[in-house]
Amino acid sequence: MQNVTVVSHPLVQHKLTIMRNKETSTAGFRRLLREISLLLGYEVTRELELTTTTIETPLQTMEAPTLEGKKLVFASVLRAGNGLLEGLLDLVPAARVAHVGLYRDHDTLEAIEYFFKAPSDLADRLVIVVDPMLATANSAIAAVEKLKQRGATNLRFLCLLAAPEGIERFTKAHPDVPIFTASIDERLNEKGYIVPGLGDAGDRMYGTK
Ligand code: URA
Repeated sequence: MQNVTVVSHPLVQHKLTIMRNKETSTAGFRRLLREISLLLGYEVTRELELTTTTIETPLQTMEAPTLEGKKLVFASVLRAGNGLLEGLLDLVPAARVAHVGLYRDHDTLEAIEYFFKAPSDLADRLVIVVDPMLATANSAIAAVEKLKQRGATNLRFLCLLAAPEGIERFTKAHPDVPIFTASIDERLNEKGYIVPGLGDAGDRMYGTK
């Protein structure tokens, strides 16, 4: 599918299967989400530009590769985005972080914003928006819209599971934003859940219901 990268690495798929299993505990789910975010983070940062810097190894001087430009921004769509965020920050500890607080109105499934905080220089940075579930895409579309209004021009969207309906809506709204996911599932159900999915990611991560 155009504009979508499915990260099919065996470790990602194995961990995802355990996360989908309803018998997996809250602690297990959270640990796996953190682990999987490292592997997804590896893929989503694959195209980062490198420059070189001169260093001294114990043996000699060398021109060594180093990341170019300003630090990344990880933009977490609250609250479930934070589950991916933690592992990503292990991978890129100097990254900046934006938080976009959105909740789904359970009747209309519309995204309602209640919080927004981001670095002021979004225009100069790659912004990786993270939310485990691309379902209706209402939250993802709204989060990216808001980040673009604040200056972001170079964005990627990272999730764990995507529904075909969500991918279609998101791509229509933001054709310039590539999507990275561990799986494209079958469909959305009438309540806006991804099927077969893994249930409510926030509830599974935090043990709420
Ligand atoms: N959000 C979730 O947490 N799960 C879904 O299946 C859809 C949206």
